[in-house]
Amino acid sequence: MLKIEGLKKIYHMGDVIVPALNNVFLEVEEGEMLCIMGKSGSGKSTLLHMLGLIDSPSKGKIFFKDQDVSKLSESRRSKIRLSQMGFVFQEYALLPELTAVENVYLPAKMLGRWPSEYQDRAATLLESLGLLDRMHHRPRELSGGQQQRVAIARAMVNKPEVIFADEPTANLDSTSGKQVMDALRWLNEQFGTTIIFVSHDTEDKGYAKRIIYLYDGKLSEEEEG
Ligand SMILES: Nc1ncnc2c1ncn2[C@@H]1O[C@H](COP(=O)(O)OP(=O)(O)OP(=O)(O)O)[C@@H](O)[C@H]1O
Ligand SMILES: [Mg+2]
Repeated sequence: MLKIEGLKKIYHMGDVIVPALNNVFLEVEEGEMLCIMGKSGSGKSTLLHMLGLIDSPSKGKIFFKDQDVSKLSESRRSKIRLSQMGFVFQEYALLPELTAVENVYLPAKMLGRWPSEYQDRAATLLESLGLLDRMHHRPRELSGGQQQRVAIARAMVNKPEVIFADEPTANLDSTSGKQVMDALRWLNEQFGTTIIFVSHDTEDKGYAKRIIYLYDGKLSEEEEG
């Protein structure tokens, strides 16, 4: 469903050139639960941003469901992101003034769905993630693990085909981290949603069906000894 070919990403910081990804090839099948591992600065977030159409490559091609999306305009990319992709970040990124359920249905509201439809779906998702009694709480009244599960429900509200999660457990204790990973696995198994997540944590590795490693912007299917 996702394919990248000969991908390069170079950041320019004034006169300094920072190579972040170097000639990366990757194919992700529908229904995978894929973990991207690698040291800090190896290019994991950059790769996730390329796959999730958040940023454009310097060179190379990205295909989403057989469509070349590497040169689409930002407005076309954002439409695909909103309707077919979901995102979960390390810092949860919930809007503080909205309640949990309002945060969850915001992407559906932005797509112009009916309130009755998206309110029900948001509530059902929160219930499935064990948060029914926290629906009307604001983020500051929730624990980190609860906020991250709200973020997962939000990522799911538009029935995406793929969810990208960048170190979703990095700010959590191991029990909350496990609940978050269990939630992602449940989505993968229950709905067949493709999950691509970045992690440093060796415990999270156990959730992956496949693991890939980044070393200084280069991809490997094997862990360096
Ligand atoms: N916006 C940017 N401008 C300039 N350089 C950047 C930018 N974003 C990332 N980089 C550089 O690109 C390289 C890869 O960064 P990236 O954030 O993808 O690494 P990472 O593997 O996600 O690291 P971490 O585990 O610390 O999150 C690093 O050398 C980083 O400094
Ligand atoms: Mg990162």
